[in-house]
Amino acid sequence: MPTEQDIRTALGNVRYPGFSRDILSFGLVKGIQIEGGNVTVEISIATRDPNIPRLIHEQAMDVLKKVPGIGEVKLNFDIKDPPGAGTTASDKLGKSSIPGVKKVIAVASGKGGVGKSTVASNLAVALSQSGLRVGLCDCDLYGPSIAHMFGTDERPYQNDEQQIVPIEKYGLQLMSMGFLLEDASPVIVRGPIATRYTQQFLRQCAWNDLDVLVLDLPPGTGDIQLTIVQTVSLDGAVIVTTPQEVALIDARKAVGMFQKVNVPILGIIENMSYFLCPSDGKVYHIFGKGGGEHEAKRLGVPLLGQIPIEMTVRESGDEGHPIALEDPAKSASSKVFCEIAAKLR
Ligand SMILES: Nc1ncnc2c1ncn2[C@@H]1O[C@H](COP(=O)(O)OP(=O)(O)OP(=O)(O)O)[C@@H](O)[C@H]1O
Ligand SMILES: [Mg+2]
Repeated sequence: MPTEQDIRTALGNVRYPGFSRDILSFGLVKGIQIEGGNVTVEISIATRDPNIPRLIHEQAMDVLKKVPGIGEVKLNFDIKDPPGAGTTASDKLGKSSIPGVKKVIAVASGKGGVGKSTVASNLAVALSQSGLRVGLCDCDLYGPSIAHMFGTDERPYQNDEQQIVPIEKYGLQLMSMGFLLEDASPVIVRGPIATRYTQQFLRQCAWNDLDVLVLDLPPGTGDIQLTIVQTVSLDGAVIVTTPQEVALIDARKAVGMFQKVNVPILGIIENMSYFLCPSDGKVYHIFGKGGGEHEAKRLGVPLLGQIPIEMTVRESGDEGHPIALEDPAKSASSKVFCEIAAKLR
């Protein structure tokens, strides 16, 4: 008679169509019952594409039939609408799967170092300045930077209900997955552990009545990002890129990841778009010109804004006082963040 472990091992070979990850590590297998040799597996998927359950069914049947001693196999599918389906950027009361949060926006990029955390922080601040209740969560286990950008080394505490209470700064609620790890441990948090940790983490935070939660995703399309797009009800994603081709190629991969699970792309933010030289007053397109605009057109999504390269953006990040806190009349970047926030709220 097969054991639950035999069934799990077999299901570990069933890939989610279009991804290299298996359905087990995505957390789609909700139950396994074994009676005699007969096996029933409960699978939950969020998709509107009828091919996805069909392909998973075919693959799962194939691998399970080969398990020694197996009798009848039954696969029960629970098919839900994908995250974000039926909601729009202007749907302010969109329900998210995270307690205490009305709307979740992910900030992502394909390439690292394009200024995603800078953009996520300033966007969150600008949304908060516009009167919304805003939270910001740093989902980067390996290189968390939000705490640094907000100049805090406070650690969150657990309340009586075993929830982690976010830190408050400049009127925002802040959380970082890195807060909960000891300094040396991130290296070992990989694959399935990172997946499980991510799934639990966002739901265990005591978010206090947020209109918007901004998620600063790690760069690329790794375990944490895939888990979030698959299990969190995202209202939309914002893609950050710099203007040059290498960044745009990677940005397309990030866009593809969200599109596969039908998360709406709210738009592209081009960072480090140009440099206004203080000494000669000229505009220099250091990383090239028009890349973000061209990509936005290609995808049919808005170019939400172009943020210049400014010393003050970097300095304010390092000083723990995001530039969007400055008066938009006095800072070109703050003005752009303010305009982007107005488009997203
Ligand atoms: N528009 C800008 N002008 C000047 N400096 C910037 C700008 N945007 C980002 N930076 C600086 O570039 C560096 C990288 O930015 P940031 O950490 O936001 O990138 P990231 O995409 O989140 O990186 P990672 O992929 O490592 O998470 C930081 O020092 C930041 O202050
Ligand atoms: Mg970052």
